[in-house]
Amino acid sequence: MKEDILLQEYLQNEDFIIKSECAISLLNTKLQIIDADLGMRYHRKVIHSKTSRIKSYESIKTKLKRKELPEDVPTVLEKINDLVGVRAVCTYTDDLYQIVKMLYDQQDVKVIKEKDYIKNPKKSGYRSLHLILEIPICLQGETQWVKIELQLRTAAMDYWAGLDYQLQYKKENKEARRIGEELKEYANAIEEIDRKVLELRKRIEAI
Ligand code: GTP
Ligand code: MG
Repeated sequence: MKEDILLQEYLQNEDFIIKSECAISLLNTKLQIIDADLGMRYHRKVIHSKTSRIKSYESIKTKLKRKELPEDVPTVLEKINDLVGVRAVCTYTDDLYQIVKMLYDQQDVKVIKEKDYIKNPKKSGYRSLHLILEIPICLQGETQWVKIELQLRTAAMDYWAGLDYQLQYKKENKEARRIGEELKEYANAIEEIDRKVLELRKRIEAI
């Protein structure tokens, strides 16, 4: 019974690890095909890089605490959507939405949730498109729909989020707050640059 297994044991179990690795590899392949498809259409590289990870036990524990949730397997499977995650980085904002649209069109991908932090940035200034997907993994004669978080961002959003992430792990003091405020200003600057660069690309395409 899932209820009786300790969370740490569940996460270390081969079943969970293999299932998660297969989900990452399937989503990576889907993104690779989308990239090839868009590349043929637009004659440029659309997805520049992809990274993936399985969330660590420590990080899950911290998140459960923050959300005031109990540490058990059913809760984690139901409430933690980013146990498995993939991040794809593109140059242009319109490509991110194009990728989302193509994922919606795939019969073997379920879009469970879509969070648009580009249209509605977080208070920190964080911008990205987040999708919670379910993809079917067939293992040992059984098909399981595995939840996976996909984060889509531009390169500018990505380096911004990287810095912000580093700051989150520093202890609160005056300098950290000052940096946070400055970072928020740059989030706005980056939004403007992303928008202007996209306009330029469209003008160049129109020549
Ligand atoms: P988390 O507990 O932060 O995962 O929140 P959530 O599961 O309720 O979802 P949310 O959409 O808020 O955030 C999911 C993920 O987006 C996080 O794990 C981070 O990778 C990223 N993220 C969200 N907000 C921020 C932010 O303000 N700064 C940075 N750098 N990353 C963020
Ligand atoms: Mg997360």
